[in-house]
Amino acid sequence: MKIIPEPYKIKAVEPIRLLSRREREKKIRQAKFNLFKLRSEDVYIDLLTDSGTSALSDNQWAGLLQGDEAYAGSRNYYHFVDTIKEITGFEHIIPVHQGRAAENLLFTTLLKKGDIVPSNTHFDTTRANIERQGATALDLLIEEGKSFDSDYPFKGNMDLEELRRLVKKYGKKRIPAGTMTVTNNSGGGQPASMENIKSASRILHRHGIKLLFDACRYAENAHFIKKREPGYARRSVKSIAREMFSYADGCTMSAKKDGLSNIGGFIALNDGKLATDVSNLLILLEGFPTYGGLAGRDLEAIARGLREGLEEDYLDFRVNQVAYLGRLLEEVGLSPMNPTGGHAVYVEAGGYLPHIPRKQFPAQALTVALYREGGIRSCEFGGATFTQTDKKSGRIRSVPMDLVRFAIPRRVYTHSHLDYVAEVFTEVGKKKDEVRGLRIVYEPTRLRLFTVEFEEI
Ligand code: F0G
Repeated sequence: MKIIPEPYKIKAVEPIRLLSRREREKKIRQAKFNLFKLRSEDVYIDLLTDSGTSALSDNQWAGLLQGDEAYAGSRNYYHFVDTIKEITGFEHIIPVHQGRAAENLLFTTLLKKGDIVPSNTHFDTTRANIERQGATALDLLIEEGKSFDSDYPFKGNMDLEELRRLVKKYGKKRIPAGTMTVTNNSGGGQPASMENIKSASRILHRHGIKLLFDACRYAENAHFIKKREPGYARRSVKSIAREMFSYADGCTMSAKKDGLSNIGGFIALNDGKLATDVSNLLILLEGFPTYGGLAGRDLEAIARGLREGLEEDYLDFRVNQVAYLGRLLEEVGLSPMNPTGGHAVYVEAGGYLPHIPRKQFPAQALTVALYREGGIRSCEFGGATFTQTDKKSGRIRSVPMDLVRFAIPRRVYTHSHLDYVAEVFTEVGKKKDEVRGLRIVYEPTRLRLFTVEFEEI
């Protein structure tokens, strides 16, 4: 069969409404051209993020009703822990309210000023949490991963030569851990291969350095290994995931992605001493260790969601749906990142809007144009998000590409919603010379994308 239909049927629906062109114009101006500032009800198709936006299954909704809201020792906590142990094989499981809380707790405990944490690519909250400790977050992505067009199957791989050089130079004293983001969100949702994970693990372990995963999208990564890496085609995704985790010493995870949940996350570790230290900080910042800032019902939804996120018919449909949007956008004249990632399609805006210079944020301008034309919300992953001016030194940290990410929420949209996105692109394409560049009128000191404000030039 060529068609892979949704492996579920729809039991509850949430109406969506397209505002009039005049209303959309008013809303985008009120939002200061930053789509994070729009109200969700003013958005028609919301591809801002795949994080926390999943549709729950009837099984998860049933689990929510079985929340045991005891302060300590909730039944759902034990289900949560058993599920994560079964999937990851790690010994100590610590619940948190979302991924960045896990990063804060772990890096506050693990790092000291002057440390270095290498990764394939750090996600921006991870980077910010490492830098907050006075440490350096270093990206060691392979060259293919930096190329928009390369069809290399594992563009999320770590550059092992660079890693070897780094650990030889600085050793365990300066590098307490290396991380791998699977899949690599900031690099296009691209997977890392088992071979690469295994080698990175060996290099780090030889120097007594821990390997930790940023495991938000580990199931999508395992799916790609099954489809693309020799020797894995007949293995279950679950056993591939377990093998991936076997090379690491722990992970942080936002369950808002492959945990198919609306909130939550965890830290998983083998090191008992580190886990105890993290747990003690958890009590201070998040809550008692058997709930970690979550309700019992949330823990239950995550336990059930994690299992559903490993189901193979779901993953086949999921990754195929993302690729479907990639093909549609190609048909209407764009060149999305090749190959498409696990959770999103990434489009390079500079080439599409060549009349807008980089300093006028072409990718952000494209997100504005798509909202104006069809009520679509997408996310800038380029100059507007990542470029940061250091107020003291005046130094500008920029990014190689001006991307727009179209992240697909899990189990939420059908193919006809995506057909509509392609049609909106066709309309924008007809008058793209009219799309205007942007100028920043307010920027925060960290994590610029969420609160930056613009005016049109
Ligand atoms: N790591 C990665 C790779 C992520 O993609 C995210 C979040 C986090 C950590 C932080 O997790 O949001 O639960 O605190 N990514 C979202 C996104 C925001 O849209 O890609 P969180």
